[in-house]
Amino acid sequence: MIVANKVILREKNLADAWDDYTWETDPELAQLDAVPLATTTFSQHLSDYANQLRYPLPTSRRLAIDTLDGKHIGNCTFYNISETRGEAELGIMIGNHDYWNKGYGTEAVITLVNHIFSQTNIRRLYLKTLESNNRAQKCFQKCGFTPYGHLSKDGFSFVLMEIYYNQWQEQQTKA
Ligand SMILES: CC(C)(COP(=O)(O)OP(=O)(O)OC[C@H]1O[C@@H](n2cnc3c(N)ncnc32)[C@H](O)[C@@H]1OP(=O)(O)O)[C@@H](O)C(=O)NCCC(=O)NCCS
Repeated sequence: MIVANKVILREKNLADAWDDYTWETDPELAQLDAVPLATTTFSQHLSDYANQLRYPLPTSRRLAIDTLDGKHIGNCTFYNISETRGEAELGIMIGNHDYWNKGYGTEAVITLVNHIFSQTNIRRLYLKTLESNNRAQKCFQKCGFTPYGHLSKDGFSFVLMEIYYNQWQEQQTKA
């Protein structure tokens, strides 16, 4: 468990299943994240969820984002972890709309990046976000990510962003 000023990052558990199902079936979130809307029933979701918790992939880590008073408001993840290349892809979702634009996303990303660069051998983090998602780009920029390209995929246009360990270290010494 990692406690920051506004958020706590913690291991996922089965009690998160309903919130996650609600967010995976939220059309606005699906649109902002350029992912298809989940069409599974809750009981199927719950069974898949229990399996994922029991048999986690070695190339992926998913953490819940809670407020300091214990409200589950979203999730963050690092996945496609490559030990050989020393890199991973980062993802975040503040699923609860009431918590958008209040600094929770920025603090969760900063906390996750600090954890990854201080506790693992990962030396580069990258992500993609929709060109149209200005809030997400601003959030990642505030966390030290810089754009390095564009990607067109499945009719969507994405901005590609990255941060290297040495850039993060420089930011730590400046802070
Ligand atoms: C993207 C997301 C993680 C950002 O987290 P958040 O807590 O809402 O954002 P924060 O408050 O930490 O920071 C957002 C920043 O963007 C700014 N912003 C908000 N809307 C904006 C817009 N339309 N254009 C430009 N900047 C905008 C805010 O003012 C803030 O900057 P500031 O602190 O300098 O004022 C969160 O909103 C989210 O998960 N949204 C839903 C799903 C989503 O977008 N998924 C895609 C993730 S790749």
